[in-house]
Amino acid sequence: MKKTLLVYGTRYGATAKSADVIATVLREKFNHEVKVVKLSSQSEDVEIANYDNIIVGSSIAKFSWTKRAKQFLKRDFTGKKLFIFISSAAITYPALESGNIDKYKKWKKMFLDRKVRKANVKPTSTAVFGGWVERNGKRSLDNWKEEDMIKWAEEIGKTTL
Ligand SMILES: Cc1cc2nc3c(=O)[nH]c(=O)nc-3n(C[C@H](O)[C@H](O)[C@H](O)COP(=O)(O)O)c2cc1C
Repeated sequence: MKKTLLVYGTRYGATAKSADVIATVLREKFNHEVKVVKLSSQSEDVEIANYDNIIVGSSIAKFSWTKRAKQFLKRDFTGKKLFIFISSAAITYPALESGNIDKYKKWKKMFLDRKVRKANVKPTSTAVFGGWVERNGKRSLDNWKEEDMIKWAEEIGKTTL
């Protein structure tokens, strides 16, 4: 049985929901044993030694990753398969959704590829998801789509067989 660790940083909750979908697909369709950890100032010091696969997710807000997800990327992933996703609902995902590939590549480079290069890690696969913006209980943007996470998790499942 493959052992998979999924860690994520969230501010408004979309990345947590995405993490749940990914973990469920890997457990139910690919028989992975998955541990999900929300990174926060209170989160445990996550041990990665026992895992074959590591998935890191971060919320993007004000052009930034969450502090803890960014810190986590500095770990040594030698010998592990690494997967990275971001929730970039206002900028990167809309470009992908509307098929504006040039804009999508530009924003993906800024929010994801540069972070990966800076951390000097080599993910097997990366993904950009949507999310939502909510103020006073009212959503002004909601482009979170479960099928995106299902598709990516299936890709992960197939590459980790
Ligand atoms: C104050 C604020 C700033 C944001 N800044 C960005 C941004 O710089 N780029 C982007 O793509 N989305 C931005 N968003 C949208 C977030 O990506 C969206 O809220 C997403 O759901 C965040 O993930 P989380 O719900 O896991 O925190 C912003 C949202 C808020 C409320």
